[in-house]
Amino acid sequence: MAETTKTALTLCGSLRKGSHNEILRRHVSGKLREAGVAVEDIDLADYEMPIFNEDLEAADTPEAASRLAEKFAKADIIVIISPEYNAGMTPVLVNTISWLSRQKHGQWRRAVFGLGAVSTGRYGGVTGIAHARDTLSKLGALLAPTLLGVGPAEGAFDALGVPTEAGVAKKVDQLVRELTHFSRGGA
Ligand SMILES: Cc1cc2nc3c(=O)[nH]c(=O)nc-3n(C[C@H](O)[C@H](O)[C@H](O)COP(=O)(O)O)c2cc1C
Repeated sequence: MAETTKTALTLCGSLRKGSHNEILRRHVSGKLREAGVAVEDIDLADYEMPIFNEDLEAADTPEAASRLAEKFAKADIIVIISPEYNAGMTPVLVNTISWLSRQKHGQWRRAVFGLGAVSTGRYGGVTGIAHARDTLSKLGALLAPTLLGVGPAEGAFDALGVPTEAGVAKKVDQLVRELTHFSRGGA
């Protein structure tokens, strides 16, 4: 059977200009492209959603929520790179997942998800990743096992956004291998 090109979405859970996590997101996107994946880079600033409130659902579900859920439902791979805030997920990530969790497009059941984080601390945001893993697993997502935590952010990337530590570069390659290897087969 002819191999079809896999598709991926990559997202960053920080909207900050100069975000360290955005640098890692871009790097992972590039590595997925090198592996032959058709990648769409998602900027969550283009998917504005009010703070989730069940009262808004009936009449005012943001169009961005169903638009993004439809994209999730079609992608083979979804990569979320996000800092941890107070050892948890960032507000924009929690809000996005809350809205998406209420959509009915099968948005968690097709893709294999990969998670990563950069933090200014030395634990590399792994506690936030653990929270995201728990939440996404509960929603039915399949998660690639590699724990891609990078920290401290200072000096972790060169001017071109390439990881300076061999260990980090290796983990990115490992994550990309997992993401391109596993498949839900559209389940
Ligand atoms: C509200 C807030 C909470 C934070 N909590 C943590 C934390 O729990 N652990 C950590 O390692 N860094 C924490 N940080 C520091 C972030 O790692 C740092 O701001 C990082 O640069 C954010 O990622 P970004 O550069 O992609 O925006 C926090 C930062 C903010 C603004």
